This record gives sequence, structure tokens and C-alpha cells, in this order.
Amino acid sequence: MSNPSYYTQPRIAIVSNAGGSGKTTLATHLAYEIAKRKIGSRPCSVALIDLDPQGSLSLFCGIEKPSEPEASTSGVLSDSFSGSWPLVSCWSEKQLKVDVCQSLQQPLLKRADELVSHPRGPYMLADKFNDYPLPHDVVILDCPATLGRLNLVALGACTHVIIPIQLEPKSASGAAELLEFYFIECRRLRLDPYPPVLGIVPNQYRANQAIHKNILEQLPGVIKNLNLGSASCYPPIRFSYEFSNASALGLPLQLYRKNHPACNDFAKIAVDVAKLIGAK
Ligand SMILES: Nc1ncnc2c1ncn2[C@@H]1O[C@H](COP(=O)(O)OP(=O)(O)O)[C@@H](O)[C@H]1O
Ligand SMILES: [Mg+2]
Repeated sequence: MSNPSYYTQPRIAIVSNAGGSGKTTLATHLAYEIAKRKIGSRPCSVALIDLDPQGSLSLFCGIEKPSEPEASTSGVLSDSFSGSWPLVSCWSEKQLKVDVCQSLQQPLLKRADELVSHPRGPYMLADKFNDYPLPHDVVILDCPATLGRLNLVALGACTHVIIPIQLEPKSASGAAELLEFYFIECRRLRLDPYPPVLGIVPNQYRANQAIHKNILEQLPGVIKNLNLGSASCYPPIRFSYEFSNASALGLPLQLYRKNHPACNDFAKIAVDVAKLIGAK
């Protein structure tokens, strides 16, 4: 399952400073899209890591919460972690290799507080990836909406960033704040290079809402002005109640309603991530 040596493992942080913008939805649907692809003749593997104290990855992946903090992300972020990643497989009956490191709210909040005074605070997860590498082809980090310690931990550990946004008037100012955080903190953490922003993903798009269409049309121009290098404005993910219905059953839409048109909305993002690992 190890990576061919010429590819470095992409670790993609799904970041947004707005709750409900679709971080967990994007994390799980992207995980599915990667896991159904192949490198040569073998299927790709994905690790999903929940850095959000809300811990909704467990629900979206249809798995039970761990009973012990050591079996969650807070355990990984502790000094006593010795490399036994607490991963739980999901969707394995569909022959997919997706493993989840779940979050427990109180232990993760406590751990985030403790990291403030830890000499390696923001590098805590990066250190674990270096010391105890995960064998997966892609790692996806589901981040909290609060731009605090846990997002620093994600920035310190990721190789790429993807930003989901809702097409609401306040999203523009929200995205500007997020990018200010990104540039300031990448500089303070002395990340070299800064993890590139692969792109911005408009989510919950309703084609019949004038404001959505308006913001969507302006978005590529806005992104161009943000100095984000080659960051894309991805095609929007349409609004559908089926996303909530699918997640209530712990499934991505592709496994819940495989012919639903919104399943195709992840294609371009998936192609870009697949390119990073030479998957087809
Ligand atoms: N494209 C979409 N259409 C309709 N509902 C969506 C869509 N994307 C996400 N949702 C729903 O919106 C809610 C918030 O999404 P979620 O992924 O949990 O956001 P976040 O992780 O950023 O808080 C969830 O109930 C989810 O099912
Ligand atoms: Mg979430």
C-alpha cells in the first residue's frame, strides 16, 4: 500500500471559517472519489482525520464514536502517542479503503488548549506524520470553523488547502478573513513552501437564486486578485437535500443515490487530487 517514492503523500486540509459551509461534506465525498480510483491496478487508500471538535466525520462516515480519548485525534496529538493510529474503516463493504481518525469533543478541546503552551504546538500533527507515516495515498484533514489552534495544527501538517464556501454575501468577507489568517500564519510558521490552495469550492449552489449566480460569476475574478497562485474556482456543488439524507445514513451521495446529478459535482476536484498521486 506504500506510495511510489516519486510522489509525496498529499495531505489536504479542508478549511473554512464558516460553520456549515460543507467542509465535512467535501472531505467525505472527496475521500470516496479518491478511494474509487486506482494507481496501476491497486485501489487508492485515504485517511480522513477529524480535527473538528464537533466530530461530524463519525456521523458522515457511519461509524461509532470511540469510547476512549486515546482512540481519537486528541490521542494522536498527545506526547504519549507512539504511532498506533486509531483508524476505523468505513464503507469497507463497498471494497473501499477509507480509514477515519475520529474526534471527541471535550478531549480535543482540552488538547487544543494544552497545545498553546507546547513547544511544538502547531507542528504536533506534522511531527506525527513524520515520525509515524500513514501508508495511505491521500490524507484529508477536516478542520473546525474556528480559526484557532487546531487550524494551525492543520496548516502545519498539510501539503494543500481546499476552501469550501457558501454563495452568500457574507462569504466574500469571510473568505478574505480566512486568507488573511492563511498568509499570516503560514509566514509565522515559516512554512516553506506555503501549502498551496488548490481551490475554492462553492457549495450549496442554487441555480435559481440570483444572488448565488451573481457571486458565482464574480468568484473567478475575486480569486485572481487574492494572490493564490494557480488556485482554481471549482465548479459549484449544487444544493440538494439528498446530501443530508445520505450523511444521516453515514454514506456519501455517490453510495446513497449513485445516479444523482450532484455526484458529478466533485469530478474536477477529484481529478486534481488524483493527479497528485498519479491515480486514474
Ligand atoms: N451541497 C449541499 N446541498 C445541501 N445540503 C448540503 C450541501 N453540502 C452540505 N450540506 C448540508 O449542510 C450541512 C452542513 O454541511 P457540513 O459538511 O457539515 O459543513 P461543515 O463541516 O462546514 O460544518 C449538513 O447538514 C450537510 O448535509
Ligand atoms: Mg464539519
